[in-house]
Amino acid sequence: MSDKVDLVIFGGTGDLSTRKLLPALYQLHRHGLAERLQRIIATGRRDMDSETFRSEAHANLQEFVAPQDWDTAVWESYCHNLHYVRVDASDGGDYERLTGLLDADGAPIRLFYLATLPALYGTICSHLQQAGAVQAQSRVVLEKPLGHDLASCHEINLQVASVFSEENTFRIDHYLGKETVQNVMAVRFGNPLLHPVWNNTFVDNVQITVAEEIGVEGRGGYYAKTGALRDMVQNHLLQVLSLVAMEPPTSLDPTDIRDEKVKVLRCLEPITADNARERTVRGRYDAGAVRGEAVKGFLEEAEYKDAGATETFVALKASINNWRWAGVPFYLRTGKRLSRRYSEIVIEFKKLSFSLFANDPNELTNKLVIRIQPEETISLHTLNKKPGLTRKLRLQPVELHLTEDPAQKGVSYDAYERLLLDAINGDQTLFMRRDEVETAWRWIDSIIAAWEEAGTPVKPYNSGTMGPGAATALVAVDGRSWYE
Ligand code: BG6
Repeated sequence: MSDKVDLVIFGGTGDLSTRKLLPALYQLHRHGLAERLQRIIATGRRDMDSETFRSEAHANLQEFVAPQDWDTAVWESYCHNLHYVRVDASDGGDYERLTGLLDADGAPIRLFYLATLPALYGTICSHLQQAGAVQAQSRVVLEKPLGHDLASCHEINLQVASVFSEENTFRIDHYLGKETVQNVMAVRFGNPLLHPVWNNTFVDNVQITVAEEIGVEGRGGYYAKTGALRDMVQNHLLQVLSLVAMEPPTSLDPTDIRDEKVKVLRCLEPITADNARERTVRGRYDAGAVRGEAVKGFLEEAEYKDAGATETFVALKASINNWRWAGVPFYLRTGKRLSRRYSEIVIEFKKLSFSLFANDPNELTNKLVIRIQPEETISLHTLNKKPGLTRKLRLQPVELHLTEDPAQKGVSYDAYERLLLDAINGDQTLFMRRDEVETAWRWIDSIIAAWEEAGTPVKPYNSGTMGPGAATALVAVDGRSWYE
Protein backbone atom coordinates (compact mmCIF):
# COMPACT_ATOMS: atom_id res chain seq x y z
CA MET A 1 0.00 0.00 0.00
CA SER A 2 1.27 3.52 -0.76
CA ASP A 3 2.25 5.78 2.12
CA LYS A 4 0.85 8.96 0.55
CA VAL A 5 -0.76 11.59 2.73
CA ASP A 6 -3.69 13.97 2.23
CA LEU A 7 -3.23 17.03 4.46
CA VAL A 8 -6.43 18.83 5.49
CA ILE A 9 -6.01 22.26 7.08
CA PHE A 10 -8.85 23.57 9.22
CA GLY A 11 -8.46 27.34 9.34
CA GLY A 12 -6.98 27.06 5.84
CA THR A 13 -7.56 30.74 5.03
CA GLY A 14 -6.48 31.99 8.48
CA ASP A 15 -3.39 33.85 9.58
CA LEU A 16 -1.29 30.82 10.55
CA SER A 17 -2.05 29.00 7.34
CA THR A 18 -1.29 32.07 5.21
CA ARG A 19 1.90 33.16 6.98
CA LYS A 20 3.41 29.84 8.02
CA LEU A 21 1.80 26.62 6.80
CA LEU A 22 1.33 27.28 3.08
CA PRO A 23 4.79 28.90 2.74
CA ALA A 24 6.38 25.98 4.65
CA LEU A 25 4.61 23.48 2.37
CA TYR A 26 5.82 25.44 -0.66
CA GLN A 27 9.39 25.23 0.68
CA LEU A 28 9.07 21.47 1.22
CA HIS A 29 8.06 21.18 -2.42
CA ARG A 30 10.99 23.38 -3.44
CA HIS A 31 13.40 21.17 -1.51
CA GLY A 32 11.93 18.01 -3.01
CA LEU A 33 10.76 16.81 0.41
CA ALA A 34 7.03 16.64 -0.23
CA GLU A 35 6.83 13.45 -2.28
CA ARG A 36 4.58 11.79 0.29
CA LEU A 37 2.08 14.62 0.12
CA GLN A 38 -0.70 13.81 -2.32
CA ARG A 39 -3.05 16.76 -1.72
CA ILE A 40 -3.33 19.82 0.51
CA ILE A 41 -6.97 20.53 1.22
CA ALA A 42 -7.66 23.87 2.89
CA THR A 43 -11.01 24.31 4.57
CA GLY A 44 -12.74 27.48 5.66
CA ARG A 45 -16.13 29.11 6.01
CA ARG A 46 -15.84 31.22 2.88
CA ASP A 47 -17.57 30.05 -0.23
CA MET A 48 -15.01 29.80 -3.02
CA ASP A 49 -13.66 27.27 -5.44
CA SER A 50 -10.16 25.78 -5.48
CA GLU A 51 -9.14 28.02 -8.38
CA THR A 52 -9.90 31.18 -6.35
CA PHE A 53 -8.09 29.74 -3.34
CA ARG A 54 -5.03 29.02 -5.49
CA SER A 55 -4.91 32.52 -6.83
CA GLU A 56 -5.16 33.93 -3.27
CA ALA A 57 -2.46 31.53 -2.11
CA HIS A 58 -0.28 32.65 -5.03
CA ALA A 59 -0.60 36.30 -3.99
CA ASN A 60 0.08 35.49 -0.31
CA LEU A 61 3.11 33.36 -1.08
CA GLN A 62 4.65 36.25 -2.99
CA GLU A 63 4.51 38.12 0.31
CA PHE A 64 5.61 35.37 2.70
CA VAL A 65 8.23 33.50 0.67
CA ALA A 66 11.59 35.22 0.26
CA PRO A 67 11.99 36.52 -3.32
CA GLN A 68 15.16 34.45 -3.87
CA ASP A 69 13.17 31.27 -3.01
CA TRP A 70 10.41 31.96 -5.52
CA ASP A 71 10.36 29.55 -8.43
CA THR A 72 7.45 29.52 -10.86
CA ALA A 73 8.05 25.88 -11.81
CA VAL A 74 7.82 24.88 -8.12
CA TRP A 75 4.63 26.91 -7.76
CA GLU A 76 3.10 25.17 -10.79
CA SER A 77 3.65 21.72 -9.30
CA TYR A 78 2.68 22.91 -5.80
CA CYS A 79 -0.59 24.57 -6.79
CA HIS A 80 -1.61 21.48 -8.65
CA ASN A 81 -1.98 19.79 -5.21
CA LEU A 82 -3.91 22.62 -3.56
CA HIS A 83 -7.66 22.28 -3.05
CA TYR A 84 -10.27 24.18 -1.13
CA VAL A 85 -13.50 22.96 0.35
CA ARG A 86 -16.00 25.05 2.29
CA VAL A 87 -16.52 23.62 5.79
CA ASP A 88 -18.02 25.53 8.69
CA ALA A 89 -16.14 23.72 11.46
CA SER A 90 -19.12 23.82 13.83
CA ASP A 91 -21.65 22.58 11.27
CA GLY A 92 -21.67 18.77 11.15
CA GLY A 93 -23.55 18.78 7.83
CA ASP A 94 -20.59 20.40 6.02
CA TYR A 95 -18.22 17.52 6.69
CA GLU A 96 -19.85 15.20 4.15
CA ARG A 97 -18.37 17.38 1.43
CA LEU A 98 -14.91 16.92 2.86
CA THR A 99 -15.31 13.16 3.25
CA GLY A 100 -16.50 12.96 -0.35
CA LEU A 101 -13.32 14.68 -1.52
CA LEU A 102 -11.11 12.51 0.68
CA ASP A 103 -12.78 9.33 -0.54
CA ALA A 104 -12.34 10.30 -4.19
CA ASP A 105 -8.87 9.04 -5.14
CA GLY A 106 -7.75 9.77 -1.60
CA ALA A 107 -4.37 9.03 -0.08
CA PRO A 108 -4.28 6.18 2.48
CA ILE A 109 -3.17 8.49 5.29
CA ARG A 110 -5.22 11.53 6.30
CA LEU A 111 -3.54 14.26 8.32
CA PHE A 112 -5.90 16.83 9.82
CA TYR A 113 -4.18 20.06 10.88
CA LEU A 114 -6.33 22.10 13.27
CA ALA A 115 -5.34 25.76 13.05
CA THR A 116 -8.61 27.14 14.40
CA LEU A 117 -9.68 28.33 17.83
CA PRO A 118 -8.76 25.50 20.25
CA ALA A 119 -12.30 25.58 21.63
CA LEU A 120 -13.34 24.01 18.31
CA TYR A 121 -10.87 21.10 18.38
CA GLY A 122 -13.23 18.68 20.14
CA THR A 123 -16.13 19.58 17.85
CA ILE A 124 -14.03 19.20 14.70
CA CYS A 125 -12.75 15.77 15.77
CA SER A 126 -16.20 14.45 16.56
CA HIS A 127 -17.71 15.85 13.33
CA LEU A 128 -14.87 14.28 11.35
CA GLN A 129 -15.58 10.96 12.99
CA GLN A 130 -19.34 11.16 12.44
CA ALA A 131 -18.78 12.01 8.78
CA GLY A 132 -16.63 8.88 8.36
CA ALA A 133 -13.48 10.89 7.59
CA VAL A 134 -11.31 9.32 10.31
CA GLN A 135 -9.59 6.01 9.62
CA ALA A 136 -7.22 3.95 11.76
CA GLN A 137 -4.17 5.61 10.16
CA SER A 138 -5.52 9.18 10.33
CA ARG A 139 -3.56 11.72 12.37
CA VAL A 140 -4.38 15.07 13.89
CA VAL A 141 -2.08 18.07 14.48
CA LEU A 142 -3.16 20.49 17.21
CA GLU A 143 -1.87 24.06 17.27
CA LYS A 144 -1.20 25.79 20.56
CA PRO A 145 -2.60 27.15 22.85
CA LEU A 146 -4.16 23.93 24.06
CA GLY A 147 -6.74 25.41 26.39
CA HIS A 148 -6.61 28.28 28.82
CA ASP A 149 -5.72 26.33 31.94
CA LEU A 150 -5.30 22.73 33.04
CA ALA A 151 -9.06 22.03 33.18
CA SER A 152 -9.78 23.31 29.66
CA CYS A 153 -6.67 21.59 28.27
CA HIS A 154 -7.72 18.33 29.88
CA GLU A 155 -11.18 18.67 28.36
CA ILE A 156 -9.79 19.25 24.85
CA ASN A 157 -7.40 16.31 25.22
CA LEU A 158 -10.27 14.05 26.32
CA GLN A 159 -12.41 15.07 23.35
CA VAL A 160 -9.57 14.57 20.88
CA ALA A 161 -8.62 11.24 22.49
CA SER A 162 -12.13 9.89 21.95
CA VAL A 163 -11.40 10.08 18.20
CA PHE A 164 -7.59 9.90 17.75
CA SER A 165 -5.17 7.71 19.67
CA GLU A 166 -2.19 9.39 21.38
CA GLU A 167 0.13 7.86 18.72
CA ASN A 168 -1.87 9.72 16.09
CA THR A 169 -2.04 13.05 17.96
CA PHE A 170 0.62 15.66 17.22
CA ARG A 171 0.61 18.69 19.56
CA ILE A 172 2.72 21.35 17.98
CA ASP A 173 5.11 23.79 19.62
CA HIS A 174 7.02 25.44 16.81
CA TYR A 175 9.98 26.20 19.11
CA LEU A 176 10.79 22.49 19.06
CA GLY A 177 11.24 22.75 15.29
CA LYS A 178 13.94 25.40 15.57
CA GLU A 179 17.40 24.17 14.63
CA THR A 180 19.28 25.43 17.71
CA VAL A 181 16.64 24.16 20.12
CA GLN A 182 17.34 20.67 18.78
CA ASN A 183 21.03 21.39 19.04
CA VAL A 184 20.61 21.64 22.83
CA MET A 185 20.45 17.84 23.03
CA ALA A 186 23.40 17.43 20.66
CA VAL A 187 25.56 19.83 22.66
CA ARG A 188 24.56 18.37 26.02
CA PHE A 189 24.73 14.67 25.29
CA GLY A 190 27.37 14.61 22.55
CA ASN A 191 30.18 16.48 24.29
CA PRO A 192 32.24 14.74 26.98
CA LEU A 193 33.48 18.21 28.00
CA LEU A 194 30.05 19.65 28.78
CA HIS A 195 28.07 16.66 29.93
CA PRO A 196 29.82 16.27 33.34
CA VAL A 197 29.37 19.96 34.29
CA TRP A 198 25.67 20.15 33.46
CA ASN A 199 24.43 20.15 37.06
CA ASN A 200 24.21 22.12 40.29
CA THR A 201 27.85 21.49 41.22
CA PHE A 202 29.05 23.58 38.30
CA VAL A 203 26.12 25.63 37.00
CA ASP A 204 25.29 28.83 38.84
CA ASN A 205 22.11 29.79 37.01
CA VAL A 206 20.27 29.32 33.72
CA GLN A 207 18.57 32.13 31.82
CA ILE A 208 16.04 31.71 29.03
CA THR A 209 14.96 34.86 27.19
CA VAL A 210 12.48 35.14 24.33
CA ALA A 211 12.34 38.83 23.45
CA GLU A 212 10.14 40.22 20.71
CA GLU A 213 10.03 43.63 19.06
CA ILE A 214 6.52 43.18 17.70
CA GLY A 215 3.43 44.08 19.70
CA VAL A 216 0.21 42.09 19.70
CA GLU A 217 -0.30 43.00 16.03
CA GLY A 218 -3.88 42.26 14.97
CA ARG A 219 -4.35 39.69 17.78
CA GLY A 220 -5.37 42.08 20.57
CA GLY A 221 -8.66 40.28 21.27
CA TYR A 222 -6.98 36.88 21.68
CA TYR A 223 -3.99 38.28 23.50
CA ALA A 224 -6.00 40.34 25.98
CA LYS A 225 -7.56 37.10 27.24
CA THR A 226 -4.29 35.19 27.14
CA GLY A 227 -1.23 37.20 28.21
CA ALA A 228 2.46 36.36 27.94
CA LEU A 229 2.44 33.64 30.62
CA ARG A 230 -0.09 31.51 28.75
CA ASP A 231 0.95 32.53 25.23
CA MET A 232 4.69 31.96 25.58
CA VAL A 233 5.80 30.48 28.92
CA GLN A 234 3.31 27.59 29.10
CA ASN A 235 4.66 26.20 25.86
CA HIS A 236 7.78 27.66 24.22
CA LEU A 237 9.79 28.60 27.32
CA LEU A 238 8.87 25.47 29.27
CA GLN A 239 9.70 23.24 26.31
CA VAL A 240 13.12 24.87 26.03
CA LEU A 241 13.60 24.58 29.79
CA SER A 242 12.76 20.90 29.78
CA LEU A 243 15.32 20.19 27.03
CA VAL A 244 17.99 22.10 28.94
CA ALA A 245 17.23 20.40 32.25
CA MET A 246 16.21 16.83 31.37
CA GLU A 247 18.21 13.72 32.21
CA PRO A 248 19.86 11.86 29.31
CA PRO A 249 17.12 9.85 27.58
CA THR A 250 17.57 6.09 27.19
CA SER A 251 17.50 6.59 23.41
CA LEU A 252 16.39 9.17 20.86
CA ASP A 253 13.06 7.42 20.59
CA PRO A 254 10.15 9.92 21.01
CA THR A 255 8.83 8.11 24.09
CA ASP A 256 12.20 8.13 25.83
CA ILE A 257 12.80 11.83 25.16
CA ARG A 258 9.31 12.85 26.22
CA ASP A 259 9.51 10.70 29.37
CA GLU A 260 12.53 12.74 30.48
CA LYS A 261 11.04 16.10 29.54
CA VAL A 262 7.88 15.53 31.51
CA LYS A 263 9.88 14.58 34.62
CA VAL A 264 11.46 18.04 34.60
CA LEU A 265 8.06 19.72 34.37
CA ARG A 266 6.87 17.61 37.29
CA CYS A 267 9.77 18.89 39.41
CA LEU A 268 8.95 22.58 38.92
CA GLU A 269 8.25 24.06 42.33
CA PRO A 270 4.79 25.65 42.37
CA ILE A 271 4.74 29.40 42.85
CA THR A 272 2.54 30.59 45.71
CA ALA A 273 0.95 33.86 46.81
CA ASP A 274 3.68 34.09 49.49
CA ASN A 275 6.56 34.02 47.04
CA ALA A 276 4.93 35.51 43.91
CA ARG A 277 6.51 38.89 44.65
CA GLU A 278 10.09 37.53 44.79
CA ARG A 279 9.66 35.09 41.94
CA THR A 280 7.53 36.78 39.31
CA VAL A 281 7.21 40.09 37.46
CA ARG A 282 4.37 41.04 35.17
CA GLY A 283 4.63 43.94 32.76
CA ARG A 284 2.63 45.72 30.06
CA TYR A 285 4.12 47.90 27.34
CA ASP A 286 3.30 51.55 27.11
CA ALA A 287 3.98 53.69 24.08
CA GLY A 288 7.64 54.20 23.18
CA ALA A 289 10.04 53.59 20.32
CA VAL A 290 11.37 50.30 19.03
CA ARG A 291 14.46 50.69 16.83
CA GLY A 292 13.69 54.38 16.56
CA GLU A 293 10.10 53.88 15.41
CA ALA A 294 7.31 55.30 17.57
CA VAL A 295 4.79 52.63 18.66
CA LYS A 296 1.54 52.64 20.61
CA GLY A 297 1.01 51.13 24.05
CA PHE A 298 -0.78 47.79 24.50
CA LEU A 299 -3.96 49.32 25.89
CA GLU A 300 -4.30 51.60 22.88
CA GLU A 301 -3.75 48.61 20.57
CA ALA A 302 -5.68 45.91 22.37
CA GLU A 303 -9.00 47.76 22.49
CA TYR A 304 -10.28 45.27 24.98
CA LYS A 305 -11.94 46.41 28.15
CA ASP A 306 -10.24 44.04 30.60
CA ALA A 307 -6.82 44.32 28.97
CA GLY A 308 -5.39 46.29 31.92
CA ALA A 309 -5.05 42.97 33.75
CA THR A 310 -3.11 41.30 30.91
CA GLU A 311 0.68 41.03 30.93
CA THR A 312 2.71 41.43 27.74
CA PHE A 313 5.90 40.69 29.66
CA VAL A 314 6.71 38.14 32.29
CA ALA A 315 9.89 37.30 34.20
CA LEU A 316 10.07 34.31 36.52
CA LYS A 317 12.51 32.63 38.83
CA ALA A 318 11.80 28.91 38.57
CA SER A 319 13.19 26.12 40.75
CA ILE A 320 13.53 22.54 39.60
CA ASN A 321 13.44 20.35 42.67
CA ASN A 322 15.54 17.34 41.75
CA TRP A 323 19.06 16.03 42.38
CA ARG A 324 20.59 17.66 39.34
CA TRP A 325 19.16 21.16 39.72
CA ALA A 326 18.32 21.81 43.37
CA GLY A 327 19.56 25.32 44.24
CA VAL A 328 20.07 26.48 40.63
CA PRO A 329 17.66 29.26 39.64
CA PHE A 330 16.18 29.15 36.15
CA TYR A 331 15.35 32.73 35.21
CA LEU A 332 12.80 32.99 32.41
CA ARG A 333 11.62 36.13 30.66
CA THR A 334 9.62 36.96 27.59
CA GLY A 335 7.89 40.05 26.35
CA LYS A 336 6.61 42.04 23.44
CA ARG A 337 7.82 45.45 22.27
CA LEU A 338 11.23 44.92 23.83
CA SER A 339 14.37 46.61 22.57
CA ARG A 340 15.30 43.85 20.14
CA ARG A 341 14.17 40.45 18.94
CA TYR A 342 16.21 37.53 20.17
CA SER A 343 15.78 34.16 21.87
CA GLU A 344 18.60 32.82 23.92
CA ILE A 345 19.59 30.27 26.53
CA VAL A 346 22.47 31.16 28.84
CA ILE A 347 24.11 28.57 31.08
CA GLU A 348 26.24 30.49 33.53
CA PHE A 349 28.87 28.40 35.32
CA LYS A 350 29.96 29.03 38.90
CA LYS A 351 32.66 31.58 39.58
CA LEU A 352 36.11 30.74 40.87
CA SER A 353 36.19 31.24 44.60
CA PHE A 354 39.63 32.86 44.44
CA SER A 355 41.40 34.88 41.78
CA LEU A 356 45.11 34.45 41.07
CA PHE A 357 44.84 37.25 38.57
CA ALA A 358 44.41 41.01 38.58
CA ASN A 359 40.71 40.53 37.91
CA ASP A 360 37.96 40.57 40.48
CA PRO A 361 36.80 36.91 40.94
CA ASN A 362 33.35 38.12 39.82
CA GLU A 363 34.75 38.72 36.35
CA LEU A 364 35.93 35.14 36.09
CA THR A 365 32.90 33.37 34.72
CA ASN A 366 32.28 30.96 31.90
CA LYS A 367 29.01 30.86 30.04
CA LEU A 368 27.51 28.80 27.32
CA VAL A 369 25.28 31.03 25.20
CA ILE A 370 22.85 29.30 22.86
CA ARG A 371 21.23 31.79 20.51
CA ILE A 372 18.04 30.39 19.00
CA GLN A 373 17.19 33.42 16.86
CA PRO A 374 17.63 35.61 14.90
CA GLU A 375 21.07 34.04 14.46
CA GLU A 376 21.57 30.37 15.26
CA THR A 377 24.80 30.39 17.24
CA ILE A 378 26.36 28.60 20.17
CA SER A 379 29.34 30.11 21.93
CA LEU A 380 31.36 29.24 24.96
CA HIS A 381 32.52 32.33 26.83
CA THR A 382 35.89 31.62 28.40
CA LEU A 383 38.91 33.65 29.51
CA ASN A 384 42.51 33.92 28.46
CA LYS A 385 45.45 36.21 29.12
CA LYS A 386 45.13 39.80 28.09
CA PRO A 387 48.11 40.32 25.78
CA GLY A 388 50.86 42.71 26.79
CA LEU A 389 53.54 43.39 29.36
CA THR A 390 51.88 43.76 32.75
CA ARG A 391 53.27 42.88 36.16
CA LYS A 392 50.24 40.93 37.23
CA LEU A 393 48.44 38.72 34.77
CA ARG A 394 45.03 39.98 33.74
CA LEU A 395 42.43 37.86 31.96
CA GLN A 396 40.11 38.90 29.16
CA PRO A 397 36.93 37.28 27.83
CA VAL A 398 37.12 35.23 24.64
CA GLU A 399 34.36 33.40 22.81
CA LEU A 400 34.70 29.95 21.30
CA HIS A 401 32.16 29.57 18.54
CA LEU A 402 30.63 26.14 18.23
CA THR A 403 28.52 27.15 15.28
CA GLU A 404 28.61 25.81 11.79
CA ASP A 405 30.55 27.93 9.35
CA PRO A 406 27.75 29.72 7.40
CA ALA A 407 29.48 28.72 4.15
CA GLN A 408 29.20 25.03 5.14
CA LYS A 409 25.79 25.24 6.71
CA GLY A 410 23.71 24.32 3.68
CA VAL A 411 19.95 24.76 3.52
CA SER A 412 18.23 26.13 6.61
CA TYR A 413 14.69 25.02 7.29
CA ASP A 414 11.92 26.95 9.01
CA ALA A 415 10.46 25.31 12.15
CA TYR A 416 7.12 24.69 10.42
CA GLU A 417 8.81 22.93 7.50
CA ARG A 418 10.48 20.50 9.84
CA LEU A 419 7.36 19.91 11.93
CA LEU A 420 5.04 19.48 8.95
CA LEU A 421 7.48 17.01 7.46
CA ASP A 422 7.64 15.07 10.74
CA ALA A 423 3.84 14.98 10.99
CA ILE A 424 3.62 13.76 7.39
CA ASN A 425 6.18 11.05 8.23
CA GLY A 426 4.49 10.20 11.56
CA ASP A 427 7.49 11.10 13.75
CA GLN A 428 6.32 12.40 17.14
CA THR A 429 9.72 13.32 18.64
CA LEU A 430 9.25 17.09 18.28
CA PHE A 431 5.62 17.15 19.38
CA MET A 432 4.27 17.46 22.90
CA ARG A 433 2.72 14.49 24.60
CA ARG A 434 -0.54 14.92 26.46
CA ASP A 435 1.03 14.60 29.92
CA GLU A 436 3.70 17.20 29.07
CA VAL A 437 1.15 19.84 28.12
CA GLU A 438 -1.03 19.11 31.13
CA THR A 439 1.92 19.12 33.55
CA ALA A 440 3.05 22.47 32.13
CA TRP A 441 -0.44 23.87 32.69
CA ARG A 442 -0.43 22.66 36.28
CA TRP A 443 2.61 24.85 37.01
CA ILE A 444 1.19 27.81 35.06
CA ASP A 445 -2.09 27.49 36.97
CA SER A 446 -0.12 27.78 40.24
CA ILE A 447 1.29 31.10 39.04
CA ILE A 448 -2.06 32.46 37.91
CA ALA A 449 -3.64 31.47 41.25
CA ALA A 450 -0.72 33.08 43.12
CA TRP A 451 -1.13 36.31 41.11
CA GLU A 452 -4.83 36.39 41.83
CA GLU A 453 -4.38 35.75 45.53
CA ALA A 454 -1.47 38.15 45.97
CA GLY A 455 -2.97 40.78 43.64
CA THR A 456 0.32 40.88 41.68
CA PRO A 457 0.26 44.15 39.69
CA VAL A 458 1.03 44.47 35.98
CA LYS A 459 3.86 47.01 35.80
CA PRO A 460 4.11 49.35 32.83
CA TYR A 461 7.31 49.53 30.78
CA ASN A 462 8.22 51.72 27.87
CA SER A 463 8.23 50.01 24.49
CA GLY A 464 11.80 49.61 23.29
CA THR A 465 13.21 48.67 26.72
CA MET A 466 13.86 45.23 28.21
CA GLY A 467 10.73 45.30 30.41
CA PRO A 468 9.95 46.75 33.83
CA GLY A 469 12.80 47.60 36.21
CA ALA A 470 11.42 44.94 38.56
CA ALA A 471 12.70 42.28 36.13
CA THR A 472 16.24 43.52 36.67
CA ALA A 473 15.65 43.52 40.42
CA LEU A 474 14.31 39.92 40.34
CA VAL A 475 17.80 38.74 39.35
CA ALA A 476 19.79 41.48 41.11
CA VAL A 477 18.55 40.48 44.58
CA ASP A 478 20.34 37.18 44.01
CA GLY A 479 23.56 39.08 43.14
CA ARG A 480 23.15 38.29 39.44
CA SER A 481 22.20 40.10 36.25
CA TRP A 482 20.54 39.22 32.98
CA TYR A 483 23.06 38.47 30.27
CA GLU A 484 22.54 41.17 27.61
C1 BG6 B 1 3.55 32.31 19.11
C2 BG6 B 1 2.88 33.34 20.00
O1 BG6 B 1 3.35 31.02 19.60
O2 BG6 B 1 4.95 32.57 19.06
C3 BG6 B 1 3.15 34.74 19.48
O3 BG6 B 1 1.48 33.10 20.02
C4 BG6 B 1 4.64 34.97 19.31
O4 BG6 B 1 2.60 35.71 20.36
C5 BG6 B 1 5.28 33.84 18.50
O5 BG6 B 1 4.83 36.22 18.65
C6 BG6 B 1 6.79 33.95 18.52
O6 BG6 B 1 7.36 33.02 17.62
P1 BG6 B 1 8.77 33.26 16.97
O7 BG6 B 1 9.06 32.01 16.24
O8 BG6 B 1 8.63 34.46 16.08
O9 BG6 B 1 9.72 33.54 18.08
